[in-house]
Amino acid sequence: MTAAVEARGVVKSYQAHRALDGVDLTVPTGTVLGLLGPNGAGKTTMVRVLTTLLRPDAGDVRVAGYDVVTQSADVRRSIGLSGQYAAVDESLTGYENLYLVGRLYGFKAAAARDRARELLALFRLEQAASRLLRTYSGGMRRRLDLAGALVARPPVVVLDEPTTGLDPRSRLDTWEMVRRLVDDGASVLLTTQYLEEADVLADSIVVIDRGRVVERGTSDELKARVGSERLEIVVADRADLPELVRVLTEVGAAEPVVDDHLRRAHVLVHVGPKTLVEALNRLDARDVRVLDVSLHRPKLDDVFLMLTDRADEGEDS
Ligand SMILES: Nc1ncnc2c1ncn2[C@@H]1O[C@H](COP(=O)(O)OP(=O)(O)OP(=O)(O)O)[C@@H](O)[C@H]1O
Ligand SMILES: [Mg+2]
Repeated sequence: MTAAVEARGVVKSYQAHRALDGVDLTVPTGTVLGLLGPNGAGKTTMVRVLTTLLRPDAGDVRVAGYDVVTQSADVRRSIGLSGQYAAVDESLTGYENLYLVGRLYGFKAAAARDRARELLALFRLEQAASRLLRTYSGGMRRRLDLAGALVARPPVVVLDEPTTGLDPRSRLDTWEMVRRLVDDGASVLLTTQYLEEADVLADSIVVIDRGRVVERGTSDELKARVGSERLEIVVADRADLPELVRVLTEVGAAEPVVDDHLRRAHVLVHVGPKTLVEALNRLDARDVRVLDVSLHRPKLDDVFLMLTDRADEGEDS
């Protein structure tokens, strides 16, 4: 079956700044992909490329089987978008906003009215239906924006940080909503800064930082990484750093990260104490003098920090 979203080698620059630097991702039909990354990672840029609001400089992007550049009208017909640059009208009521979206999608008046009412009920906005949007709270506004994305029952839904700024109750409502969408057969790509959110909602997760994919996997795979530890070793002589990196590559569960300045390198490992001993034995056998060794057990959020931190260090060195 055609994937809901298929992106290969996406590059997008703003003048000299490369916001996306070769991103690959796939959203299999009927699944949720969580696109995770810190501020400035390129999440919104990716969303804009997927939704035809921005044209990629390079790469191949298909949404619902349509090419975003050559078949942009078909792509737009296939997606619902909710996000950081919400197109809602402050001087209209909640109901009017949704009704208008329906009309824009070509609904007859009665159908647009019914769909608007249905969505207002779904998002617990019935009480506020006839209030002007400018009187809505931030959370109500986001819910309305999300409702707007669903008016035309799009097969592919793209949500840019759907729960940022929401209170816990509204966040849970939104999660529930996303699950219901998927149950009804939609495919979802959502961006988030919260590992927890991706963990709860996403079938698969792609972590990006500075326009590059730094990690990908199922939530279970990322969770497994939460359980892993970080082995850090400082060598006495800077000249031994390459040897240290070789050893950490041999014993580690991921690419080691080097801090040249501090004569230090670290790597994610699965069984900390055992790997630590193994690493020290190997270093000893190669006459590398070790100054300091430490083992850290990362917390949930650390995984995310670690992944994005690693990309930072990669860029600096
Ligand atoms: N219109 C623009 N002109 C120039 N640079 C831009 C523009 N939009 C975004 N950028 C830059 O591109 C990079 C990626 O931005 P983007 O908005 O995609 O990040 P993001 O992951 O959505 O961040 P956030 O979590 O803050 O929403 C950032 O460095 C940003 O400053
Ligand atoms: Mg953004």
